[in-house]
Amino acid sequence: MKIAISSDHTGIDLKALIIKTFSNIEFVDCGPSSTESVDYPDYTEKVAKAVQQGSVDGGIAICGTGIGASITANKFKGIRASLCLNGFMAEMTRKHNDSNVLVLGARVTGDEVSLYIVDKWLSTEYEGGRHQRRIDKISVIENRENTGA
Ligand code: RB5
Repeated sequence: MKIAISSDHTGIDLKALIIKTFSNIEFVDCGPSSTESVDYPDYTEKVAKAVQQGSVDGGIAICGTGIGASITANKFKGIRASLCLNGFMAEMTRKHNDSNVLVLGARVTGDEVSLYIVDKWLSTEYEGGRHQRRIDKISVIENRENTGA
């Protein structure tokens, strides 16, 4: 499985920990590579585009709260980015929302819980069925409301 991953300066250690821990996953590290202060939209965009273009199977985006990265990632058509604070949210957003980008808040969630969230998110399958109708409705809204380039 190939996963694009990004952070900002607040999440760089968590990003490295995830890459090291999930050695069975092929990560595409979208940066940054130093702890110098950066802007989370610049790096979240790289993950969202990789997922959108299908060059990876999914993405993980990290910022301090996870909120800025969520807002950014969900601007991209076809991206269903989910800020998860626990394993239950990670499991449910895969099963019900077919989440394709996991978002973590490095200043909110501790390392151990974050790794548990990543594990749940990576290992849970989308259930389809009635949930597809709801996702299709999101796509209708997305197409209707976003007419710009
Ligand atoms: C950076 O200071 C911080 O604003 C960012 O990591 C994130 O929490 C934004 O939503």
